[in-house]
Amino acid sequence: MTQFQAPKGVPDYLPPESAQFVAVRDGLIATARRAGYADIELPIFEDTALFARGVGESTDVVSKEMYTFADRGDRSVTLRPEGTAGVIRAVIEHGLDRGPLPVKLVYAGPFFRYERPQAGRYRQLQQVGVEAIGVDDPALDAEVIAVADAGFRSLGLDGFRLEITSLGDDTCRPQYRELLQEFLFKLDLDEETRRRAEINPLRVLDDKRPHVREMTADAPVMLDHLSDSAKQHFDTVLAHLDALGVPYAINPRMVRGLDYYTKTTFEFVHDGLGAQSGIGGGGRYDGLMRQLGGKDLSGIGFGLGVDRTMLALKAEGKTVGSTARVDVFGVPLGEQAKMRLSVLAAQLRAAGVRVDLAYGDRGVKGAMRAADRSGASIALVAGDRDLEAGTIGVKDLSSGEQVDVAVDDVVAEVLSRLRG
Ligand code: HAM
Repeated sequence: MTQFQAPKGVPDYLPPESAQFVAVRDGLIATARRAGYADIELPIFEDTALFARGVGESTDVVSKEMYTFADRGDRSVTLRPEGTAGVIRAVIEHGLDRGPLPVKLVYAGPFFRYERPQAGRYRQLQQVGVEAIGVDDPALDAEVIAVADAGFRSLGLDGFRLEITSLGDDTCRPQYRELLQEFLFKLDLDEETRRRAEINPLRVLDDKRPHVREMTADAPVMLDHLSDSAKQHFDTVLAHLDALGVPYAINPRMVRGLDYYTKTTFEFVHDGLGAQSGIGGGGRYDGLMRQLGGKDLSGIGFGLGVDRTMLALKAEGKTVGSTARVDVFGVPLGEQAKMRLSVLAAQLRAAGVRVDLAYGDRGVKGAMRAADRSGASIALVAGDRDLEAGTIGVKDLSSGEQVDVAVDDVVAEVLSRLRG
């Protein structure tokens, strides 16, 4: 018989770690909701052309990493490699941009990239993302960045840094592109790199090979060639970040893996992760909506990697969320006792308490071990003799102290202990 395994490069999150995964994801979402971002749930797969046009044909994401297939109606669809293109598609399709601006949206879920799997680089990755669409205000850029920063910090993470730059706009990027190409074409580049310089010269600055790095060390950078308006925009974003107390480092050579970025662009980097150090990234994408057939509206957003945030927390030796599966664990000794404890468990659950009990016939020792492993702070111990007496043993699992409580008073006793 075949032994099945999860697809290569796809992580499983199992208890108790899965509770952390959920705490990280929900913590990041909660920070965005506090800033007025509304939830949006979108399809996992979309028209392939949406990503090709939105993310950019020359990116690795589109040219090498998409999970693309023909469905049974012979349409080419793709498992979403990122969230921004789908959000803009939905905003255009449903006319969300006809309401008050900016449209502020938050989403979470899986994304798919056929990358070479390694630590922190998965083929199914999870992100929490936000998009703020329709207003080009540097204060909004700062808000988006501050929300990401606050999200990470709310989890207790502090060993990361924010890198930021500006990629300019229509008024300065074309001239800079020419300047960069002029510089690159003078270098002794191999065929493929030369072609990249023709299609997307910025990407050559992201080349990791040492000899290319060396050759491009003095390449002109966008930040030195911003138009007055793009420069003012960037300076205002930085002034807002200063006022908000969000620390940052300017990295004029930052290159993002997606083509839609304009002006403010940023990345959160964690040094405890090795090569895959980006725990989140984002930026402005002022031309994307028009490019996808909508109005000429601006946008800015981020995507934060939930998997990598988990790894960053681990690197810092931190945990979030409760590792305890339940608050109360029932230990029945006998069938009658089991029925009584089942009823009590249902009553406590209805009152909002997390309760589990020992099933099967594992004996007292086995049941108490299960109680300890569950993370519960209280055990309810009942044998047939207790039932005759009309009591249940309520045991404090940290001190080991146990008292008999009348069956009718158990719910109140447990609630007062847990809330007290
Ligand atoms: P991205 O930089 O491609 O941006 O991805 C955002 C984050 O997702 C990364 O910083 C990283 O933490 C995580 N991530 C990406 N690929 C992988 C992978 N293979 N394995 C594990 N984690 C990964 C975007 O996707 C943009 N849509 C963000 C955005 C929203 N920009 C504007 N709005």
